[in-house]
Amino acid sequence: MRLNWILLPLALSVAAMGALAEDDPQRGGEIYTTCAACHGAQAEGNRSLNAPRLTHLAPVYIVAQLQKFKAGARGGSGASESARQMAAIAATLADDQAMYDTAAYIATLKGGVSVATVEADPELGASYYRQFCAACHGPAAEGNPALNSPRLAGADDWYLLAQLQAFRGGSRGSHPQDRTGKQMRAMAGVLPDDAAVAAVVSYIHGLGQ
Ligand code: HEC
Ligand code: HEC
Repeated sequence: MRLNWILLPLALSVAAMGALAEDDPQRGGEIYTTCAACHGAQAEGNRSLNAPRLTHLAPVYIVAQLQKFKAGARGGSGASESARQMAAIAATLADDQAMYDTAAYIATLKGGVSVATVEADPELGASYYRQFCAACHGPAAEGNPALNSPRLAGADDWYLLAQLQAFRGGSRGSHPQDRTGKQMRAMAGVLPDDAAVAAVVSYIHGLGQ
């Protein structure tokens, strides 16, 4: 009995140390050298490789996506060539801590502002956005972690377009274990046509400027 009272504080402090384990951006920086080949030294993205900028994303979303890529819930069978490439890289990450560390490093980078490449009617896009998207992604596309909804402001327009088309075509968000992807897939389907998709993308891109 006495022994337990002596050991209890020790057990508690060990538990506290575990809970306080901090993400290590320096270790993340070492891991990120692999990522930089495609996403760029400042995570500014590289369109010719279909690799998006990452700097606008919250670390929690980056980790969630890396976990999905590693588990095959994103980038598995039926996915695009780009997503499968990314899944192969995520599979090389040792564990969740490696993902948290890399995300913490990405948060220190400055990818700059992305230039507009999609020409469409942002006014039309605004009305679609308010009607169908703002409830989850926020009025300024700032994201809502409580709804697992990522920030969209600051993303490349070509990447937003490609992902919306991937959701609509079912190459993203179809895996049975991709719960959040399935939610988004249903929402991408409410946009009536390609012109509406381009319009909403053009509006979102403007929010990030
Ligand atoms: C071989 C090139 C390549 C490398 C190396 C690579 N990526 Fe990617 N990454 C991609 C491509 C291409 C996509 C887009 C996938 C898609 O279209 O669904 C992507 C997507 C992502 C996404 C999803 C972003 C979003 O908003 O959906 C994250 C997060 C990510 N990569 C992080 C990383 C990290 C961290 C590393 C290093 C451990 C890394 N990537 C290495 C090519 C690469
Ligand atoms: C019910 C909530 C909800 C609504 C409404 C919604 N989304 Fe999403 N969206 C999500 C979630 C959750 C994700 C993350 C999916 C994942 O984890 O793969 C997401 C992801 C995305 C992505 C991928 C971003 C990235 O970097 O990977 C885009 C683009 C997107 N949404 C655009 C839209 C647009 C445009 C609309 C309106 C037509 C919309 N969303 C409406 C919940 C929603």
